Amino acid sequence: MNIKKVGVIGCGLMGHGIAQVAAQGGCEVTVVETEQKFLDSGLARIDKSLAKLAEKAKEKGGSFDAAGTRARIKGTLDRKAVADCDLVVEAIIEDLEIKNKLFAELGRICKPTTIFASNTSSFPIAAMAKASGRPKQFVGLHFFNPVQLMKLVEVVRTNETSDEVFAAARAFGETCGKSPVACKDTPGFVVNRLLVPYMAEAMKMLDRGDATAQDIDTAMKLGCGYPMGPFELTDYVGLDTTLSILQGWVKAHPNEPAFQIPKALEEKVKAKKFGRKSGEGFYKWEGDKKA
Ligand code: 3HC
Repeated sequence: MNIKKVGVIGCGLMGHGIAQVAAQGGCEVTVVETEQKFLDSGLARIDKSLAKLAEKAKEKGGSFDAAGTRARIKGTLDRKAVADCDLVVEAIIEDLEIKNKLFAELGRICKPTTIFASNTSSFPIAAMAKASGRPKQFVGLHFFNPVQLMKLVEVVRTNETSDEVFAAARAFGETCGKSPVACKDTPGFVVNRLLVPYMAEAMKMLDRGDATAQDIDTAMKLGCGYPMGPFELTDYVGLDTTLSILQGWVKAHPNEPAFQIPKALEEKVKAKKFGRKSGEGFYKWEGDKKA
Protein backbone atom coordinates (compact mmCIF):
# COMPACT_ATOMS: atom_id res chain seq x y z
CA MET A 1 0.00 0.00 0.00
CA ASN A 2 1.82 3.04 -1.27
CA ILE A 3 0.16 6.34 -0.42
CA LYS A 4 0.58 8.85 -3.25
CA LYS A 5 -2.80 10.57 -3.56
CA VAL A 6 -4.10 12.15 -0.39
CA GLY A 7 -7.40 13.84 0.42
CA VAL A 8 -7.64 16.19 3.39
CA ILE A 9 -11.10 17.16 4.62
CA GLY A 10 -10.90 20.57 6.29
CA CYS A 11 -8.41 23.36 5.54
CA GLY A 12 -8.41 25.00 8.98
CA LEU A 13 -5.76 25.15 11.70
CA MET A 14 -4.73 21.48 11.32
CA GLY A 15 -6.02 20.58 7.84
CA HIS A 16 -3.99 23.23 5.99
CA GLY A 17 -0.82 22.02 7.73
CA ILE A 18 -1.54 18.34 6.99
CA ALA A 19 -2.20 19.14 3.32
CA GLN A 20 1.06 21.08 3.19
CA VAL A 21 3.35 18.47 4.80
CA ALA A 22 1.83 15.71 2.64
CA ALA A 23 2.61 17.80 -0.47
CA GLN A 24 6.11 18.53 0.86
CA GLY A 25 6.53 14.74 1.02
CA GLY A 26 5.68 14.45 -2.69
CA CYS A 27 2.00 13.42 -2.44
CA GLU A 28 -0.71 14.83 -4.73
CA VAL A 29 -3.13 16.48 -2.32
CA THR A 30 -6.80 17.44 -2.67
CA VAL A 31 -8.04 19.55 0.22
CA VAL A 32 -11.78 19.98 0.70
CA GLU A 33 -13.66 22.75 2.50
CA THR A 34 -17.33 23.59 2.94
CA GLU A 35 -17.12 27.26 1.91
CA GLN A 36 -14.89 29.17 -0.51
CA LYS A 37 -13.85 31.69 2.18
CA PHE A 38 -12.51 28.88 4.43
CA LEU A 39 -10.68 27.32 1.50
CA ASP A 40 -9.16 30.65 0.49
CA SER A 41 -7.94 31.41 4.01
CA GLY A 42 -6.47 27.89 4.44
CA LEU A 43 -4.65 28.06 1.09
CA ALA A 44 -3.37 31.55 1.98
CA ARG A 45 -1.90 30.11 5.19
CA ILE A 46 -0.17 27.41 3.14
CA ASP A 47 1.28 30.08 0.81
CA LYS A 48 2.55 32.07 3.79
CA SER A 49 4.10 29.02 5.44
CA LEU A 50 5.77 27.83 2.21
CA ALA A 51 7.21 31.33 1.66
CA LYS A 52 8.59 31.28 5.22
CA LEU A 53 10.16 27.83 4.76
CA ALA A 54 11.75 28.98 1.47
CA GLU A 55 13.11 32.12 3.17
CA LYS A 56 14.54 30.04 6.06
CA ALA A 57 16.15 27.54 3.65
CA LYS A 58 17.74 30.42 1.70
CA GLU A 59 19.13 31.94 4.92
CA LYS A 60 20.83 28.60 5.60
CA GLY A 61 22.26 28.47 2.08
CA GLY A 62 19.89 25.70 0.97
CA SER A 63 16.75 25.69 -1.16
CA PHE A 64 13.12 24.72 -0.76
CA ASP A 65 10.74 24.08 -3.65
CA ALA A 66 7.76 26.17 -2.51
CA ALA A 67 6.21 26.46 -6.00
CA GLY A 68 6.55 22.72 -6.70
CA THR A 69 4.99 21.87 -3.33
CA ARG A 70 2.12 24.31 -3.86
CA ALA A 71 1.45 22.87 -7.34
CA ARG A 72 0.71 19.48 -5.73
CA ILE A 73 -2.16 20.96 -3.64
CA LYS A 74 -5.63 21.42 -5.13
CA GLY A 75 -8.49 22.99 -3.20
CA THR A 76 -12.15 22.17 -3.82
CA LEU A 77 -15.61 22.36 -2.26
CA ASP A 78 -16.57 18.98 -3.78
CA ARG A 79 -16.04 15.98 -1.48
CA LYS A 80 -16.33 13.61 -4.44
CA ALA A 81 -12.94 14.90 -5.60
CA VAL A 82 -11.25 12.60 -3.02
CA ALA A 83 -12.92 9.46 -4.45
CA ASP A 84 -9.74 7.96 -5.91
CA CYS A 85 -7.34 8.97 -3.11
CA ASP A 86 -5.19 6.31 -1.41
CA LEU A 87 -5.70 8.02 1.94
CA VAL A 88 -8.27 10.54 3.20
CA VAL A 89 -7.43 12.42 6.41
CA GLU A 90 -10.26 14.14 8.27
CA ALA A 91 -9.44 17.41 10.06
CA ILE A 92 -12.85 19.02 10.61
CA ILE A 93 -14.64 20.38 13.69
CA GLU A 94 -14.38 18.27 16.89
CA ASP A 95 -17.94 16.94 16.82
CA LEU A 96 -18.28 13.16 16.78
CA GLU A 97 -21.71 13.13 15.15
CA ILE A 98 -20.52 15.33 12.26
CA LYS A 99 -17.35 13.25 11.87
CA ASN A 100 -19.37 10.01 11.80
CA LYS A 101 -21.66 11.43 9.11
CA LEU A 102 -18.64 12.52 7.07
CA PHE A 103 -17.02 9.07 7.27
CA ALA A 104 -20.28 7.34 6.31
CA GLU A 105 -20.38 9.58 3.22
CA LEU A 106 -16.68 8.94 2.44
CA GLY A 107 -17.35 5.20 2.77
CA ARG A 108 -19.87 5.54 -0.05
CA ILE A 109 -17.79 7.92 -2.22
CA CYS A 110 -14.25 6.50 -2.08
CA LYS A 111 -12.73 3.58 -3.97
CA PRO A 112 -12.71 0.32 -1.97
CA THR A 113 -8.97 0.48 -1.16
CA THR A 114 -8.96 4.04 0.26
CA ILE A 115 -7.61 4.22 3.81
CA PHE A 116 -9.38 6.61 6.20
CA ALA A 117 -7.75 8.56 9.02
CA SER A 118 -9.00 11.02 11.60
CA ASN A 119 -6.87 13.78 13.12
CA THR A 120 -9.19 13.96 16.15
CA SER A 121 -7.56 15.08 19.40
CA SER A 122 -9.82 13.11 21.67
CA PHE A 123 -12.64 11.05 20.15
CA PRO A 124 -12.49 7.23 19.94
CA ILE A 125 -11.13 6.18 16.55
CA ALA A 126 -13.22 2.96 16.71
CA ALA A 127 -16.49 4.96 16.64
CA MET A 128 -15.55 6.71 13.37
CA ALA A 129 -14.12 3.47 11.95
CA LYS A 130 -17.50 1.81 12.50
CA ALA A 131 -19.36 4.73 10.89
CA SER A 132 -17.13 4.52 7.79
CA GLY A 133 -18.03 0.86 7.20
CA ARG A 134 -14.28 0.16 6.75
CA PRO A 135 -12.98 -0.61 10.25
CA LYS A 136 -9.93 -2.55 8.96
CA GLN A 137 -8.89 0.44 6.82
CA PHE A 138 -9.12 3.06 9.55
CA VAL A 139 -6.47 4.71 11.75
CA GLY A 140 -5.95 7.84 13.78
CA LEU A 141 -3.29 10.20 12.41
CA HIS A 142 -2.87 12.84 15.08
CA PHE A 143 -0.63 15.74 14.05
CA PHE A 144 0.47 18.61 16.30
CA ASN A 145 0.09 22.34 15.98
CA PRO A 146 1.85 23.95 14.10
CA VAL A 147 1.87 20.91 11.82
CA GLN A 148 4.66 22.35 9.64
CA LEU A 149 7.08 22.55 12.59
CA MET A 150 6.10 19.83 15.07
CA LYS A 151 7.95 16.59 14.36
CA LEU A 152 5.49 14.10 15.83
CA VAL A 153 2.54 12.18 14.45
CA GLU A 154 0.64 9.69 16.59
CA VAL A 155 -0.55 6.69 14.57
CA VAL A 156 -3.52 5.19 16.38
CA ARG A 157 -4.78 1.69 15.73
CA THR A 158 -8.01 0.09 16.90
CA ASN A 159 -8.52 -3.62 17.54
CA GLU A 160 -9.68 -3.90 13.95
CA THR A 161 -7.04 -1.89 12.05
CA SER A 162 -5.15 -4.26 9.73
CA ASP A 163 -1.36 -4.55 10.04
CA GLU A 164 -0.98 -3.52 6.40
CA VAL A 165 -3.04 -0.34 6.87
CA PHE A 166 -1.21 0.57 10.07
CA ALA A 167 2.17 0.14 8.31
CA ALA A 168 0.99 2.27 5.37
CA ALA A 169 -0.23 5.03 7.72
CA ARG A 170 3.05 4.98 9.61
CA ALA A 171 5.02 5.21 6.35
CA PHE A 172 2.81 8.15 5.31
CA GLY A 173 3.74 9.93 8.58
CA GLU A 174 7.40 9.51 7.63
CA THR A 175 6.68 10.79 4.11
CA CYS A 176 5.31 13.94 5.80
CA GLY A 177 8.67 14.36 7.57
CA LYS A 178 7.34 13.24 10.96
CA SER A 179 8.47 10.71 13.54
CA PRO A 180 5.48 8.39 14.03
CA VAL A 181 4.68 6.79 17.39
CA ALA A 182 2.23 3.89 17.69
CA CYS A 183 -0.72 4.45 20.05
CA LYS A 184 -3.72 2.48 21.17
CA ASP A 185 -7.21 3.95 20.85
CA THR A 186 -7.33 5.38 24.39
CA PRO A 187 -8.57 8.87 25.47
CA GLY A 188 -6.03 11.48 24.28
CA PHE A 189 -3.68 8.76 22.95
CA VAL A 190 -0.21 9.57 24.39
CA VAL A 191 0.36 13.32 24.15
CA ASN A 192 -3.07 14.76 25.01
CA ARG A 193 -3.58 12.23 27.83
CA LEU A 194 -0.55 13.83 29.50
CA LEU A 195 -0.76 17.38 28.14
CA VAL A 196 -4.44 18.29 28.67
CA PRO A 197 -4.54 17.31 32.40
CA TYR A 198 -1.27 19.28 32.82
CA MET A 199 -2.83 22.38 31.22
CA ALA A 200 -5.98 21.89 33.33
CA GLU A 201 -3.90 21.55 36.52
CA ALA A 202 -2.20 24.88 35.74
CA MET A 203 -5.66 26.50 35.36
CA LYS A 204 -6.75 25.00 38.67
CA MET A 205 -3.71 26.69 40.25
CA LEU A 206 -5.01 29.95 38.76
CA ASP A 207 -8.53 29.21 40.12
CA ARG A 208 -7.03 28.79 43.60
CA GLY A 209 -4.89 31.92 43.25
CA ASP A 210 -1.64 29.97 43.77
CA ALA A 211 0.26 32.00 41.13
CA THR A 212 -0.39 34.19 38.09
CA ALA A 213 -0.62 32.75 34.58
CA GLN A 214 2.54 34.66 33.62
CA ASP A 215 4.50 33.27 36.59
CA ILE A 216 3.31 29.70 35.97
CA ASP A 217 4.36 30.02 32.31
CA THR A 218 7.75 31.47 33.24
CA ALA A 219 8.24 28.69 35.81
CA MET A 220 7.56 25.90 33.31
CA LYS A 221 9.65 27.53 30.55
CA LEU A 222 12.69 28.24 32.72
CA GLY A 223 12.29 25.38 35.19
CA CYS A 224 11.55 22.61 32.69
CA GLY A 225 12.81 24.00 29.39
CA TYR A 226 9.37 23.87 27.73
CA PRO A 227 9.10 26.19 24.69
CA MET A 228 5.75 27.55 25.95
CA GLY A 229 4.18 27.56 29.40
CA PRO A 230 0.75 25.91 29.91
CA PHE A 231 -1.27 29.13 29.45
CA GLU A 232 0.52 30.27 26.31
CA LEU A 233 0.13 26.75 24.95
CA THR A 234 -3.61 26.65 25.78
CA ASP A 235 -4.00 29.98 23.96
CA TYR A 236 -2.07 28.49 21.04
CA VAL A 237 -4.15 25.28 20.89
CA GLY A 238 -7.47 27.11 21.54
CA LEU A 239 -9.40 27.36 24.81
CA ASP A 240 -12.59 26.13 23.11
CA THR A 241 -10.72 23.08 21.78
CA THR A 242 -9.21 22.34 25.21
CA LEU A 243 -12.61 22.71 26.92
CA SER A 244 -14.32 20.48 24.39
CA ILE A 245 -11.65 17.75 24.88
CA LEU A 246 -12.14 17.89 28.65
CA GLN A 247 -15.94 17.94 28.42
CA GLY A 248 -15.90 14.82 26.23
CA TRP A 249 -13.61 13.00 28.68
CA VAL A 250 -15.57 14.06 31.78
CA LYS A 251 -18.74 12.72 30.13
CA ALA A 252 -17.15 9.42 29.09
CA HIS A 253 -15.04 8.90 32.26
CA PRO A 254 -16.81 10.70 35.14
CA ASN A 255 -14.73 8.95 37.82
CA GLU A 256 -11.28 9.81 36.41
CA PRO A 257 -9.79 12.46 38.77
CA ALA A 258 -7.39 13.76 36.07
CA PHE A 259 -10.35 14.85 33.94
CA GLN A 260 -11.83 17.96 35.57
CA ILE A 261 -12.90 21.28 34.10
CA PRO A 262 -11.23 24.37 35.61
CA LYS A 263 -13.43 27.44 36.24
CA ALA A 264 -10.92 29.77 34.53
CA LEU A 265 -11.30 27.79 31.30
CA GLU A 266 -15.10 27.75 31.37
CA GLU A 267 -15.30 31.48 32.08
CA LYS A 268 -12.91 32.44 29.27
CA VAL A 269 -14.75 30.29 26.72
CA LYS A 270 -18.10 31.73 27.85
CA ALA A 271 -16.62 35.19 27.19
CA LYS A 272 -15.55 33.96 23.70
CA LYS A 273 -11.87 34.33 24.63
CA PHE A 274 -10.61 31.34 22.65
CA GLY A 275 -6.90 32.28 22.61
CA ARG A 276 -4.77 33.14 19.60
CA LYS A 277 -7.59 32.51 17.08
CA SER A 278 -9.92 35.11 18.68
CA GLY A 279 -7.21 37.62 19.66
CA GLU A 280 -7.48 36.93 23.41
CA GLY A 281 -7.35 34.02 25.82
CA PHE A 282 -5.13 34.08 28.88
CA TYR A 283 -3.04 36.58 26.86
CA LYS A 284 -3.81 39.11 24.13
CA TRP A 285 -2.64 38.17 20.62
CA GLU A 286 -1.83 40.16 17.50
CA GLY A 287 -2.05 37.67 14.66
CA ASP A 288 0.31 34.79 15.46
CA LYS A 289 2.28 36.70 18.10
CA LYS A 290 1.55 37.32 21.79
CA ALA A 291 0.85 41.06 22.25
N1 3HC B 1 5.19 27.41 8.85
C1 3HC B 1 6.41 27.87 8.58
N2 3HC B 1 7.14 28.60 9.44
C2 3HC B 1 6.59 28.86 10.63
C3 3HC B 1 5.30 28.40 11.00
C4 3HC B 1 4.59 27.65 10.04
N3 3HC B 1 3.38 27.18 10.28
N4 3HC B 1 5.01 28.81 12.26
C5 3HC B 1 6.07 29.50 12.68
N5 3HC B 1 7.02 29.53 11.72
C6 3HC B 1 8.32 30.18 11.75
C7 3HC B 1 8.23 31.52 12.45
O1 3HC B 1 7.80 32.51 11.52
C8 3HC B 1 9.64 31.74 12.91
O2 3HC B 1 10.43 32.29 11.88
P1 3HC B 1 11.51 33.44 12.21
O3 3HC B 1 12.57 32.75 13.03
O4 3HC B 1 12.01 33.85 10.87
O5 3HC B 1 10.79 34.51 12.94
C9 3HC B 1 10.12 30.33 13.21
O6 3HC B 1 9.22 29.43 12.56
C10 3HC B 1 10.15 30.03 14.68
O7 3HC B 1 8.90 30.38 15.24
P2 3HC B 1 8.75 31.41 16.46
O8 3HC B 1 9.56 32.63 16.24
O9 3HC B 1 7.29 31.61 16.71
O10 3HC B 1 9.45 30.78 17.69
P3 3HC B 1 9.75 29.36 18.31
O11 3HC B 1 11.17 29.05 18.05
O12 3HC B 1 9.25 29.48 19.70
O13 3HC B 1 8.93 28.18 17.62
C11 3HC B 1 7.03 26.79 18.14
C12 3HC B 1 7.52 28.14 17.64
C13 3HC B 1 7.58 25.66 17.29
C14 3HC B 1 5.51 26.84 17.97
C15 3HC B 1 7.47 26.57 19.62
O14 3HC B 1 7.10 27.67 20.40
C16 3HC B 1 6.86 25.32 20.22
O15 3HC B 1 7.34 24.22 20.02
N6 3HC B 1 5.76 25.48 21.01
C17 3HC B 1 5.02 24.38 21.56
C18 3HC B 1 4.01 23.90 20.56
C19 3HC B 1 3.29 22.66 21.02
O16 3HC B 1 3.49 22.13 22.10
N7 3HC B 1 2.40 22.16 20.14
C20 3HC B 1 1.59 21.02 20.43
C21 3HC B 1 0.26 21.51 20.87
S1 3HC B 1 -0.80 20.18 21.33
C22 3HC B 1 -1.55 19.74 19.92
O17 3HC B 1 -1.35 20.31 18.87
C23 3HC B 1 -2.48 18.60 20.01
C24 3HC B 1 -3.92 19.01 19.82
O18 3HC B 1 -4.67 17.83 19.64
C25 3HC B 1 -4.50 19.78 20.98
